[in-house]
Order: sequence, then C-alpha cells, then structure tokens
Amino acid sequence: MPEHILVAVAWPYANGPRHIGHVAGFGVPADIFARYHRLRGNRVLMISGTDEHGTPITLVADKEGTTPQAIADRYNKIIGDDLYNLGLSYDTFTRTTTANHYAVTQDIFRTLYERGYIIRQETLGAFSATTGRTLPDRYIEGTCPICGYDEARGDQCDNCGSQLDPTDLINPRSKVDGQPPVFKPTEHFFLDLPAFAEQLRTWIDQQGHWRPNVRNFSLNFLKDLKPRAITRDLEWGVPIPLPEYANRDDKKIYVWFDAVIGYLSASIEWAINRGEPDAWREWWQNPDSRHFYFMGKDNIVFHTVIWPAMLLGYGAGGQYGANPGGKYDGIPLQLPYNVVSSEFLTMEGKKFSSSRGIVIYVNDFLSRYDADALRYFLTIAGPENQDTDFTWAEFVRRNNDELVATWGNLVNRTLSNVYKNFGSVPQPGPLTAADEQVLAEVTGGIATVGELLAGARFKAALSEAMRLAAQVNIYLSEQEPWKVIKSDRERAATIWYVALRCVDTLKIIFTPFLPFSSQRLHEYLGYDGYIAGPLRFQDVTEADGRTHRVLTGDYDQWVGRWEPSALPVGQALRQPQPLFKKLDEAVVEEELARMQSRAK
Ligand code: MF3
Ligand code: ZN
Repeated sequence: MPEHILVAVAWPYANGPRHIGHVAGFGVPADIFARYHRLRGNRVLMISGTDEHGTPITLVADKEGTTPQAIADRYNKIIGDDLYNLGLSYDTFTRTTTANHYAVTQDIFRTLYERGYIIRQETLGAFSATTGRTLPDRYIEGTCPICGYDEARGDQCDNCGSQLDPTDLINPRSKVDGQPPVFKPTEHFFLDLPAFAEQLRTWIDQQGHWRPNVRNFSLNFLKDLKPRAITRDLEWGVPIPLPEYANRDDKKIYVWFDAVIGYLSASIEWAINRGEPDAWREWWQNPDSRHFYFMGKDNIVFHTVIWPAMLLGYGAGGQYGANPGGKYDGIPLQLPYNVVSSEFLTMEGKKFSSSRGIVIYVNDFLSRYDADALRYFLTIAGPENQDTDFTWAEFVRRNNDELVATWGNLVNRTLSNVYKNFGSVPQPGPLTAADEQVLAEVTGGIATVGELLAGARFKAALSEAMRLAAQVNIYLSEQEPWKVIKSDRERAATIWYVALRCVDTLKIIFTPFLPFSSQRLHEYLGYDGYIAGPLRFQDVTEADGRTHRVLTGDYDQWVGRWEPSALPVGQALRQPQPLFKKLDEAVVEEELARMQSRAK
C-alpha cells in the first residue's frame, strides 16, 4: 500500500536571495527525502513557499524606500528560480500573500479564538527608540536571565532553550541600531500554550524516533511554557479576523503564526490547483499519513511545540477541518511525525553574513558550478548532525576526488567502453562468482541505502552509495575487461554487462541526491522518459484577480522505481558524455579572492 507522506519544508523569508547555508538546512535534505519516497511509489506532497510577512520584509522595504509587497514579489521570484535550478521537487512552492493563505490563517485564528485558546492580554511592546516602530523579538538581543548567555534573543535563548519575552532580557538592545528598545503598553492576542502543555509533553515523550537534539530542546522548552503573543503592532501581515479589527491597520497577525499555517494552506492550494479541492485531506486527515518537517535548528520549537499546539486546538474544527459527508469528516488534522532539523553551515570558518560579504548565494554558485556538485557537497559534508564549514578547498576536493573520481569515473569508463565496443547492452555469458558477488552487493544497496534515507540519514545514505560505486570500480580493475576483450569477447561482454547492471542500479540509488546527472545517465543507458522530473512553474489566478507563480512538477510521470536494474539485453545506448566536471585547483584561489573583494 502506498503511504501518504507530507514533506513540509521551512518557508524561506522573501527578504533577500538565499545562500547555500539555507538550502543545506531545509531544501536539499527535504528534496532527497521526497524523491526517495516518490521512487518507492509513495504518495508524496512536498509543500512550502516564501514567508512574506513580518518585520524581516518591512525592514528591507524601509531601507529601499519601497513597499513590503514589492520586496516580497522580487525575492519570491528569485528564490523560486533558485529552488527550481537546484531541482527541489516541490509539489507546491507558493507564497504567504495569497488569498487562500489569508483565508486558512484567519479560519485557524478564529477557531482557536472561539474555543478560548487565543486570549487577549495587555502587554509591554518593544518599539525602536529611533523609528518608533515595533521591534520584532528576533531583533532584540540581550543577556539570558536564566543561563547568562549574552546573545539571547527576544523570543528565546539558543543556549539553554528557554522561551523568553523581550522584557525578560537583561540589557536589551536592538540588533538594528544597538539602542535599548522603548517598552509601551499595547493589547495583543496570545496563544494559550500552557493549555496544551500536558498533551504536548505526552506526545513528545513518545517520539523516540526524533533526533535527540530536537526532542531534548523541545522538552526543555515545555518546562517553562507561557502564553505567546501572536499579533504585532505592524501594518504588514494577515488581518486579525475579528470585527473590531476589520478596519484597523496597526495590528496584524504575527508572521510566525501565519507562516506555520502555510503547510496546511499550501496543501489546500495544491488540491485546488489540481482541480481536486478535497485531495489535501488524504495527507492531513488520513490517520495513516506521516508528516516530515525539514528546517534549520533555530526553527525547532515552532514546529515541535507551537504549530502542534495550534493543530491540537484546531482539531477537526473550523471551515477547513469539517467535511460533512466526506471520508474524513470529524478527523483531526495530523501532528508532525518527524521534525528533521539540521545544524548550521559556516563559510570558511565564519558565520554567513550578507552584509560582510561572507556569503555564497545559490544563484551565484549555480552560475559557475553544477547543481549536482552542490547537492553532493551539502549532503556528504553538510550540517546534518553538527555545525559544519563550507570551504572552497573542500568543495573542490570532494568534487574531484569523490564525485568525479568514483561515481563519475565508473559511469564514464563503463559507458564509453560499452558504447564503443558493443553499442548496446551486450548479451552476457555465464556469470562467475565475482560477477554474482558484485551484482548482489549493489542490489543490496536498494535496501540498505533505502533504509538510511527513510530514516533521514542522508549523509550515511550517500556514503553507502559511494562505497558501492567504489566496489564496482574495484571489480572492474580486477576483471580488466578492456584487456580481456582482446582475447575473449564473450567474457568481456559479460563483465561489461555486469558493470552496466550495477551502474543502472546505482543510477536509481543516486537519483534522490543527484537528479540531474541521474537523468542524463538514464538517457545514455538508452531509456526514455523522466526518471525523476520535470519541475515547472504554474501561474495561478485567484478569485480576487491577483496572479502568483507556483513551483510544481509532473511527478506522476516518473518512470524511475526504487528497484534493482532490469536493464534489457540489446537496449541501444546513446552517445555518453562525462557526468561531472573536474574542477581546476585554481578555483579555490579565484573564489577566495571573489569573497575578499565583496568583504569590504
Ligand atoms: N522564515 C523562517 C526562517 O527563515 C522559517 C519559517 S518556517 C515556517 O527562519 F514554519 F514558518 F513556515
Ligand atoms: Zn539561556
């Protein structure tokens, strides 16, 4: 039975282009996971979009003297292009400024409010001493009152995991101008998190399959749960759906409250755009579906505590939850099954910083290097379980000594020899023990690599795939078919046949990681159709007449299957080309110089 798998990917802020550290954390791992499950024949829904509300956007708009919508429009386009060029196979990558997203967000707000899970409270709001405007929690820094860490933020301390309010910080200061914020009384709406504390603790306790840091961080967060403000004194955001706020432009729903709802609204949008408006329920209300969230570690509690609390409060209620007469009427929305969080990527030993020029934007990277080379590096050497460093020297080394020398070399020598000597998949003679052994080992990768992928252990999965490719290289070096062919053409044909079968199986195993080169290999091997693609953009016009662009794809047409090769004897090969490019060592100096010139 195919499983329903929701791949929920963190929503990048539309306040600038994304750098490779961002896509290392949420994009590439999520895509590998989604592609693997589709190849397994599971029904995957991979959704996200640009996160377009809140002060991250208004700050950029102010600086440029334009509107938040104009900023969001610009970076939604740039980010969408980057994700497309990286081959991230979203079913729907949309945005949070759609009418659909507003409607879903307001339904959840209204439902939680009516049930008493959203409460009003007078509070002290933080305002900028220089501009008089709201200062977002994340732009206030100070000393943590609990552990003494001096770079705690106004929403939480990354050192001890405590949930904080800006007023809790010792020596608070604005990250924008360094000034202490001005605190003034203001009414806000609060999500009553303590009402869900017990349910959340019981639930998280049961999630033994979460990465330990995610579980510990979340349990720690639960120790000190307070109602959390979900509105802000800001013009830019989803309007509060209560009559007395209908005409007020100074208070809006907080960006984090609406952004996490994006997972649901984007699923609903996907269904609408397909012309099957209830299809999203197969993921959200089907109790057998499983939800996997992908993000960087600074997003953990939003996904393990706050969003789950919102889902628990909403249950099966509201306008979207109800489905009278439908298959899933009265069934509450699903909680996350796993929250896969990665650590941070640094750049040549330093924190990424656009303002200091310590950054490599995805589009800049892809203008000089292939997407698969980046995907390889970010998976094999990325921040899956610990903070890791990107260096150009290491990128070039891994590309040349691993990707090109092992997998690229195996494909290259196998295809070019077979193409030249046979032109098609040769008829094998009897198999020797060595032939059987290498075939069995590579075939076994379907199970072993598959298991690692299913467990979100991407680095280990790719290492195992590379180990198998290296084994086939050893087999070829021992068998020397290029020599054998001079005296025994049938035996050479058998060796090459075995190598081709191995390459064809490895092609499937590498597809989630390296979709572009796997597609080319698929074609060189004489196959037709998409092993895993294609992505495309779709323009969607909503009832209010506004149009937005969605990244999607025709993944139902995939011919790839997570199964060992069944390469037919006699299948004509196509003229092969090398899969990967070897990089000149000079690249390292060039790139470091480029970074130097930006860092002024
Ligand atoms: N925009 C946030 C960030 O870049 C992530 C939002 S994820 C979502 O940190 F859950 F809110 F969607
Ligand atoms: Zn602390």
